[in-house]
Amino acid sequence: MDKQLRNSIFHQAKSWILEAGERIRENIDAPRSIETKSNPNDLVTEMDQQTEQFFAEKIKEDYPEHYLLGEEGFGDDIEALDGTVWIVDPIDGTMNFVHQKRNFAISIGIYHDGIGEIGLIYNVMEDVLYSAKRGEGAYKNRMELPTLNKERPLNQSILALNTTWMIPENPHIEHKGMQDLVKKIRSTRSYGSAALEFAFVAEGILDGYLTMTLMPWDFAAGAILVEEVGGVVTQANKQELDLLNKSTVLASRSPIHDEIIDDYVQLKKGKSDS
Ligand code: IPD
Ligand code: CA
Ligand code: CA
Ligand code: CA
Repeated sequence: MDKQLRNSIFHQAKSWILEAGERIRENIDAPRSIETKSNPNDLVTEMDQQTEQFFAEKIKEDYPEHYLLGEEGFGDDIEALDGTVWIVDPIDGTMNFVHQKRNFAISIGIYHDGIGEIGLIYNVMEDVLYSAKRGEGAYKNRMELPTLNKERPLNQSILALNTTWMIPENPHIEHKGMQDLVKKIRSTRSYGSAALEFAFVAEGILDGYLTMTLMPWDFAAGAILVEEVGGVVTQANKQELDLLNKSTVLASRSPIHDEIIDDYVQLKKGKSDS
């Protein structure tokens, strides 16, 4: 994508994400209708739907030739990443939105012919926007984020892990490897919003984020941000990310990326690959 075009799409997307965030903040205490999707803990609210609808309408109006891949079904049925595709999670961390009224984000990754061009993650209640344009660095509001530390060893690292994957019966990953990893590192965190966990890796306040079942809208923007500051993002078996399917993901500073996968991650066969 041409730099000038990327810039103008960036400014448009940025103004929409701020506008959508402001609307969520204004309505944060409004009564909520909460429904469940795939299981009783998989929540969705009218705010998730309205926010995605807002982006769908804006994109259709201003960029009718672009596609939208969104969580809540207001986008297009996409089978390939040809052309320009907006990959949108209107509220990432719906459970936090419902229970905590904080620690959730709007996530937008814009890809052109499969290449990540623009990443935006808006921490709505903190009013902090993480943003990146391909080849032009990543920002936290107006502050450029420095390249990630390459020296700090694994035993001084903090990793975001979803503790579900540590129970022995989990279907995705060998429990013993995860136990060894948790013993090795300095500590773990679990924020409940994949997008924010990517943003925190990009910011350098987390050293990595390992997770087993993300959808493209959970990681599309985050992958662009982390790569812009020299981090590495792959599936948990080192394969390239799959932007059209459910996927395992490891996003981290570069030297510990291989170490985590080689020495600690043992995926249960046939279950956790995309
Ligand atoms: C979820 C959050 C959560 C992650 C789940 C996602 P949602 O997204 O990112 O942290 O563990 O896998 O589905 O449903 O709140 O947009
Ligand atoms: Ca959801
Ligand atoms: Ca999500
Ligand atoms: Ca969501």
